[in-house]
Amino acid sequence: MHDDHIRHSLGERVKELTALHRTARCLQDAERPLDDLMAEVLAILPEAWQFPTITAARLRTLGREWATPGFRDTPWLQRAAFTARDARDGGEIAGTLEICYLEPRPAADEGPFLREERDLIDSVADMLRLHVQHVLADEALRAARDGLERQVQERTAQLEASNEALKAEIDEHRRARREIEHHQRQLRRLASELSLAEARERRAIAADLHDHLGQALAYVKLRLGEFAGDAVFCGFEQSLQELETLIDQAIRYTRTLTCELSPPVLHELGLGPALEWLGEQAQARHRIRVDVRVARDAGAPGADLAVMLFQCARELVANAVRHGRPRRVRIDLRRVGGDLRLEVADDGAGCDPARLVEAVPADGPGGFGLFSIRERLRHLGGSLDAVSAPGRGATVTLRVPASNEEVRP
Ligand SMILES: Nc1ncnc2c1ncn2[C@@H]1O[C@H](COP(=O)(O)OP(=O)(O)O)[C@@H](O)[C@H]1O
Ligand SMILES: [Mg+2]
Repeated sequence: MHDDHIRHSLGERVKELTALHRTARCLQDAERPLDDLMAEVLAILPEAWQFPTITAARLRTLGREWATPGFRDTPWLQRAAFTARDARDGGEIAGTLEICYLEPRPAADEGPFLREERDLIDSVADMLRLHVQHVLADEALRAARDGLERQVQERTAQLEASNEALKAEIDEHRRARREIEHHQRQLRRLASELSLAEARERRAIAADLHDHLGQALAYVKLRLGEFAGDAVFCGFEQSLQELETLIDQAIRYTRTLTCELSPPVLHELGLGPALEWLGEQAQARHRIRVDVRVARDAGAPGADLAVMLFQCARELVANAVRHGRPRRVRIDLRRVGGDLRLEVADDGAGCDPARLVEAVPADGPGGFGLFSIRERLRHLGGSLDAVSAPGRGATVTLRVPASNEEVRP
């Protein structure tokens, strides 16, 4: 009898251990759908209780319910509650595992149930708690991964869109820059054309003055001389004299104007002598000393370049006289390497050097003299440099590649 009892107890423990073992194995299969898994675990349990044929099991958790056939609330119920951590929101999920006898059985440790069966139901409930936690953690992980993937996709789409916008903007900038560069080139060409046209026009007017007005005046003077001894004009000698003086003045004035408009020396003798003439003119007119130095290998560039450099020199001397009020001015033309260098320096009032190199002074009228020189030089691949300081005079240096000597701007 004692042996039978021990054997029976051992049999019960073996059943309990088998149930635990099978439950653990079953729950290891993470790939199986939850419904399958729970149904199988519940089916394992009645076998482990003392009276499997009248035993049923039920599990409630995750807002759902699984049960073996015939389960109902009877007075003979063993229950284990558990609380699983919910990784999705940091909350908790409740669960209950219940075993019931469908018929009464003799009293044991807990109603008709054994102490060992209490241990078993608690252990299984704990395993189910861990499994539920696992399921929830998996779900949280999947949600996080999905969210992350969505974010990455959204961010990628945003980046692609802004990339496109940026590309379009860069294209637009490039186009605008090309347009600006094109306009700048046009402007430089225009400045060149304008000053050459001005020079041609001045030369034509000078020629007209010389050929028509000058000749006519010379002729009038000649005819007037013929009247001097004529008896008809007796008593008008005084008036004739006055007329002759007036005509002489007009002839001189016409000659000066002709020269100033377009110095014949530039077209007949070239840039070097024209610069010397310019110096003499300024010296005489403004009572300053003007030194002109023209290197022998620099004084005879091509006609258009000579006209342009002469115009520049005239503007720079005019600037020196007008803005600097100097005592001395120096004009220097020479060759340095492949360049022609024209330098005009004065010992006058000087100015902020920014005024000499700025594109166009923003304030006040005028200021186009240096701008025009700079643009014309750029058109020919040259440049303008200036050194000055208030009270220290000014030196402006123009550089033009000598290769332009043969090229028409
Ligand atoms: N030799 C100089 N000495 C002092 N200031 C000068 C000299 N040359 C030019 N400047 C300054 O630079 C400015 C720009 O000259 P410019 O472009 O020729 O215009 P504008 O002669 O019509 O004023 C002048 O207004 C003047 O202030
Ligand atoms: Mg000027």
